[in-house]
Amino acid sequence: MRFPLSTPLAVPAGTLAAGPQPTLTAGDLVLRPWQDDDASAFLAAYQDPEIRRWHTRRPASEEQVREWFAFYHRAWRQETAASWAMTYDGGAMVGRMVLGGMDLGDGVAVCAYWVVPAARGAGLASRSLRAVSDWALGAAGFHRLELDHSTRNHASCRVAVKAGFRPEGTRRRAAVHADGPHDMHLHARVRGDD
Ligand SMILES: CC(C)(COP(=O)(O)OP(=O)(O)OC[C@H]1O[C@@H](n2cnc3c(N)ncnc32)[C@H](O)[C@@H]1OP(=O)(O)O)[C@@H](O)C(=O)NCCC(=O)NCCS
Repeated sequence: MRFPLSTPLAVPAGTLAAGPQPTLTAGDLVLRPWQDDDASAFLAAYQDPEIRRWHTRRPASEEQVREWFAFYHRAWRQETAASWAMTYDGGAMVGRMVLGGMDLGDGVAVCAYWVVPAARGAGLASRSLRAVSDWALGAAGFHRLELDHSTRNHASCRVAVKAGFRPEGTRRRAAVHADGPHDMHLHARVRGDD
């Protein structure tokens, strides 16, 4: 049983699902919804040891990837999550950006990302995070976006700061990795931040 909220939803129900998931752009960077023909590149990305190190949920086959994409498309219609393929000019996928855990009542969502090894070091993750958070805190109507990363993941910390996500502290032993629980560094960007 869910008791009714006494405050209006920060993001009114139906607003996001009223249209298709938007394609977002920033210069030559194009963030588009996933397509079934991204499946083999998506599966290949999870062979990278760094992606495997920091992302414990991973697909085992192209069929599972396509189920994952179907889940993303459903999640958009249910207004619970959105996920984009990072591309240059809409071409081959070079990374993934997720806005998950959408709480429409408080207007809060959680970001996560990875970039394929060949495309790293070119500002892709930070520019994508900036583009998605500009849209989420602007047109989409969210108030606050969070992300967390292991305190051992220094590159992810740098991406967050470069995209305007301020550090907010450390959640101790908050996420299990292959070598056990890690302390997680929390960042957030809220509407009105730079
Ligand atoms: C983290 C990741 C997304 C960064 O993608 P990217 O497109 O290369 O990121 P950007 O180019 O936007 O920025 C990377 C920044 O991190 C810095 N960086 C890279 N490796 C670093 C390291 N080991 N220690 C500290 N900083 C590092 C870069 O110098 C750059 O900062 P700068 O521009 O100030 O020099 C990518 O390395 C990746 O996918 N890693 C594996 C998965 C992962 O860690 N996901 C995040 C889980 S929370």
